Amino acid sequence: MELRSLGNTDVMIPEIGLGVWKYRGGAEPLQRGVELGAFLIDTAEMYRTEDAVGQAVKDLREKVFIASKVSGSNLRHDDVLRAADASLRRLETNFIDLYQIHWPNSSVPIKETMRAMETLVDRGLVKCIGVSNFSVGQLRAVRAAMSKYPVVSNQVLYNLNSREIEDDLLPYCQEHGVTVIAYTPLDDGRLAVKSRFRRSQGMKVMEEIAAQVQKTLAQVALNWCTSHANVIAIPKSDSVTRTEENCGASGWRLSEEQMRRLDEAFV
Ligand SMILES: NC(=O)c1ccc[n+]([C@@H]2O[C@H](COP(=O)([O-])OP(=O)(O)OC[C@H]3O[C@@H](n4cnc5c(N)ncnc54)[C@H](OP(=O)(O)O)[C@@H]3O)[C@@H](O)[C@H]2O)c1
Repeated sequence: MELRSLGNTDVMIPEIGLGVWKYRGGAEPLQRGVELGAFLIDTAEMYRTEDAVGQAVKDLREKVFIASKVSGSNLRHDDVLRAADASLRRLETNFIDLYQIHWPNSSVPIKETMRAMETLVDRGLVKCIGVSNFSVGQLRAVRAAMSKYPVVSNQVLYNLNSREIEDDLLPYCQEHGVTVIAYTPLDDGRLAVKSRFRRSQGMKVMEEIAAQVQKTLAQVALNWCTSHANVIAIPKSDSVTRTEENCGASGWRLSEEQMRRLDEAFV
């Protein structure tokens, strides 16, 4: 598994992590993923999977990087502190490696939220602060609102079928050392399965490239994400076999020509 720096820090994270939204797989897929080097697990208070993550990593906590999120409805100062406390209890741990604001909320002053997030770091309950679903303008505001610690990541929708971030958000994050955590990197599985009916031009090209490099569609789709500077991907799978497959998206690279063909085929 190839590693990347988290933001501008010296913390190293895997380029493929494990998402657990709607996760029902129990301990085994997560433990197998960690064993294969996908040691970042992404959950959220909203997902109701923090307890499953806590159970799965109980005996390997020091090997795992836990990312969780405070909901956009909990961004008042005291609500952030309470939400973190509840997440820590469900995760059965005494710190969260990366605590992210799940969605921006314009009705709460960002300075108030970030003051609480920084307090969590001061208290050792959170190691790093991130955001999710933030635009360039919102990222600028959050960076300006922080006085002690950096924003290390922005978790956003990114896959071959959803490339809006390429206009301005991805370049901004690359320029300012903010890791992009690509969510729904398999487009909810659509990029990972061969269509039996009419295939799009994109899927035809992806099948050709998968055959060339002798990888699966999921592995090509994930490698396309992580071939971009500063980007890691967090596919979700309930299955051990598919988790193993997704981990096999690391350790090799699509060529520049293959990247160009995919970029052009998925417009
Ligand atoms: N911050 C946010 O607002 C936000 C929003 C959405 C998601 N996320 C995060 O991103 C993670 C991943 O996104 P996602 O769950 O929306 O979508 P995804 O990872 O793109 O796709 C998950 C779907 O693909 C299937 N799948 C996984 N690996 C596969 C493979 N190798 N071959 C075939 N099918 C495969 C899964 O089925 P099986 O489970 O049956 O394998 C599941 O149905 C989430 O779990 C969550 O942590 C964050």
